[in-house]
Amino acid sequence: MRSRAALAALPGVLALAAAHAEVDPQLCFACHGPNGNSVNAAVPALAGQPAQFIGTQLIMFREKRRTDPQMSPVAAPLTNPEILALGKFFAAQQRAAPAQKPSEAVIAAGRKLAEDYNCVVCHGPALHGQQHIPRLAGQQKEYLRTQLRGFKAGTRFDMDGNMTSAAQRLQPADIDVLADYISGLE
Ligand code: HEC
Ligand code: HEC
Repeated sequence: MRSRAALAALPGVLALAAAHAEVDPQLCFACHGPNGNSVNAAVPALAGQPAQFIGTQLIMFREKRRTDPQMSPVAAPLTNPEILALGKFFAAQQRAAPAQKPSEAVIAAGRKLAEDYNCVVCHGPALHGQQHIPRLAGQQKEYLRTQLRGFKAGTRFDMDGNMTSAAQRLQPADIDVLADYISGLE
């Protein structure tokens, strides 16, 4: 009975979802910063992220594959059309210039690690991301460090396993250099 009623209601629900496919992105600015340019070390910037990456991560949070005490409740009620619209919005925002520049020594060491460990192969030559692969350039340093440690430890969910394997060879010192280097990139 219940499923038949739900099915009968489906066209109406879909029309409603399409009509209300906008969540005000201002809701996200409270944590992710103005236009998705985070000023909080623990919260990732969203500005200039590929729309597909934002969409897949929101679905991962909604489906409880990825969990966070702050982010999970925000993602829980989002519909697919709302997720699509949010991805489009943040992908179109300009990423702010990085707050600080690392030393020449860190830049040289970081660039070498990013090439030796193939970060540039998946995340793109300028680490600007593509499709479901995130932009890393100019991301919050602490956030990058936490995520890399999480992938290495197997605690950050990874859709296809690629990033978890990429992180296995990284030593703790490599992670520090990479986080310093990448957060300073435009
Ligand atoms: C109460 C604070 C808060 C609000 C409001 C919030 N977020 Fe988040 N969001 C976070 C935190 C914290 C993380 C990082 C979670 C982690 O460390 O795994 C995050 C992570 C994300 C990620 C993953 C990004 C990445 O680089 O992996 C996306 C996408 C995202 N949020 C989108 C949104 C959108 C869209 C909104 C508005 C509808 C929003 N968030 C509102 C706190 C918030
Ligand atoms: C084989 C492809 C591949 C390689 C090589 C790779 N990555 Fe990734 N990376 C991904 C994918 C795909 C994701 C998204 C994972 C997910 O959440 O499902 C990701 C996610 C990340 C994230 C999380 C960012 C965020 O905003 O949540 C960081 C940080 C990261 N990669 C850094 C690196 C670094 C540094 C290297 C080199 C040491 C690297 N990656 C090499 C594919 C790759």
